[in-house]
Amino acid sequence: MKVLQINIEEIPESELKPKYESEENMGFGQIKTDRMFTASYRDGTWKDLTIKKYAPIILDPTAVCFHYGQTIFEGQKAFWTQEGHINLFRPEKNAARFNLSAQRMMMPEIDPEIYLTGLKELLIIEKDWVPKSKGSTVYIRPAMIGTEPCLGLRASNEYLFFIILSPSRSYFPEILKLYVSEQYIRAAPGGMGSAKTGGNYAGSLLVGQVAKKAGFDQVLWLDAIHRRYVEEVGAMNIFFVYNDVVYTTPIESDTIVHGITRESVIQLIQDFGYTVKEESLAIDKIVRGIKEGALVESFGTGTAASIVPIGSLFYRGENHIIIEFKVGSLTKKVSKKLLDIQYGNIPDPYKWIVRVI
Ligand code: COI
Repeated sequence: MKVLQINIEEIPESELKPKYESEENMGFGQIKTDRMFTASYRDGTWKDLTIKKYAPIILDPTAVCFHYGQTIFEGQKAFWTQEGHINLFRPEKNAARFNLSAQRMMMPEIDPEIYLTGLKELLIIEKDWVPKSKGSTVYIRPAMIGTEPCLGLRASNEYLFFIILSPSRSYFPEILKLYVSEQYIRAAPGGMGSAKTGGNYAGSLLVGQVAKKAGFDQVLWLDAIHRRYVEEVGAMNIFFVYNDVVYTTPIESDTIVHGITRESVIQLIQDFGYTVKEESLAIDKIVRGIKEGALVESFGTGTAASIVPIGSLFYRGENHIIIEFKVGSLTKKVSKKLLDIQYGNIPDPYKWIVRVI
């Protein structure tokens, strides 16, 4: 096994940031730790593996990422356990998905060993930043950008990979109100909807703002062709519970993000005895299900989001309420189970946890 050489740059004590005062008020993504991991791709290989001070990145104004969108990212979390360990959740899955995004965006894959070792070493050095209270985590953001100066349209020959850490609380409020978009779509078959690339998120901002202004939290995207079948919520995959049958959009389509939380939740709820059907549901059927009381719960899943109950869907001028105040029993149960595994409160029969310290 090859040993990776990571250059660790010293930071003078006087340049270290003050730690956050309260874990309760940390918010999401606002605090960044002292250091970042970086690696550069030049001449066909990844090199210069470094842990250095968190700092702005200086690029030529013609860098490909600025103009032609060669950017990809991942989202992960690190959890502090009662025994004083740091747990990562299925990190090898993130590294694999990162490389799928890279392939789609004509970017070089990164050796999972560089990705995972860089992440673990960074977490070890930054361990004092890992929050210890319930509901707090370190949100991890690995990313890659095309850095070569070039105004002609082609893939960059040079890239920067970096990992930053952000001690964070939850991403969403308690219960979400969704706005169903019929006019705009997020992704089309054959497009890049399954890649975690900036353009997919930029394209969602306009409708996101319409939804926010109208008092909703997030957009529920429908398929591009029929404008009828539910896809995802942009920052999350989505599940619909009809008593003991649970539906979620299949990932065979290349239009949704292949959620790692989604995959884990499918496993957990199957093990609770539910039937999971990976089928796209039509929005009109969902609305009918809500009206008739057959659809009893819905929840979103994602790394930043974890598991969030969906309270209502606004579709064609009407708000359809699934729950108002009381979170559904499956949502509660699966959320507790997942968090208990992630925080190391219960054994992990699935071998999902990778212990860092
Ligand atoms: C994540 O859940 O980690 C994501 O990448 C979604 C992002 C919009 C916060």
